[in-house]
Amino acid sequence: MKRLGPFRPFEITWEDCLLGGGVAAQFEDPSLPLHVEIGPGDDSFLMDSAGADPDANWLGLEYSRKRVRRYARRVERELGRPGNLRLLWRPAIDVVGPFLSPGKVAVYHIYFPDPWPKAHHARYRLMEPAFAAALRDSLVPGGQIQMATDSAEYAEEIVAVMAEVPGLVNDLDAPGYELRDEGTHVTAFEQRWREAGRQILALQFHKPAPEATGG
Ligand SMILES: C[S@@+](CC[C@H](N)C(=O)[O-])C[C@H]1O[C@@H](n2cnc3c(N)ncnc32)[C@H](O)[C@@H]1O
Repeated sequence: MKRLGPFRPFEITWEDCLLGGGVAAQFEDPSLPLHVEIGPGDDSFLMDSAGADPDANWLGLEYSRKRVRRYARRVERELGRPGNLRLLWRPAIDVVGPFLSPGKVAVYHIYFPDPWPKAHHARYRLMEPAFAAALRDSLVPGGQIQMATDSAEYAEEIVAVMAEVPGLVNDLDAPGYELRDEGTHVTAFEQRWREAGRQILALQFHKPAPEATGG
C-alpha cells in the first residue's frame, strides 16, 4: 500500500519537532504565542482562527490521518499558505509532554472530545489526571484551557479531574461549567448536537502566574 507522506507545509511530524528545533520552530514566526486545538476533526475553528489571528500560531493535534490530510487540503484551498497554522497527526498525549512542555502553550482548545461513555472504554477518555497534569505543565503562566462538550456527565468528570490537579484553576462558578449561548462560536459537532436538541456546556481553566514577590 502506498504510504502518503506529510502534506507540506501544513503537516508537520514529530520527527520535525524532535530534530528541527521543537514545535515553535515549525511556524514562520516561532516567537508568536501558541494556541493548540486537540481534535479539530473536520471543523473550521482552527483555520478560521489562524486566518483571523495572525499574531498567534495555531497547531492542530489530530489522531485521524484521514482528517489531517483532508484538513491540510482545505487550508491550502481556503487560506493559501498561512505560516501560522500547522497540523500534527498524533494522539495529543504523545505531543503535550515531550514537545509542548514546559510552558510552551498559551491556550488549549478542546471542543467536543470523544466522551467514551461506556465503562469499558473509559481508558480512552482524554481528560485523565495524568493528561490534565501534562496540560498544566505545558501551559505558560496565565495560559488557558477552553473546552466544550454536550455531555453533562463528561463535564462533571472533567471538573472533578481538574480539581485534583494542583496549579490549575477553574474559571467558572459551581458546578464548574456553564451553558454556552447559541452562536458564540460554533464547531461542526456543536452544530450537530444543537440540531439534535442537546445543550452545549463550556468549561474554562487557567494556570495562574506565580505571585510577584516584592523586593
Ligand atoms: C467529536 S470530534 C470533534 C471535532 C471538532 N473539535 C468539533 O467540535 O467539531 C473529536 C475529534 O478529536 C479527535 N481526537 C480524539 N481524541 C484525540 C486525541 N487524544 N488526540 C488527538 N485527536 C483526538 C478525533 O479524531 C476527532 O476528530
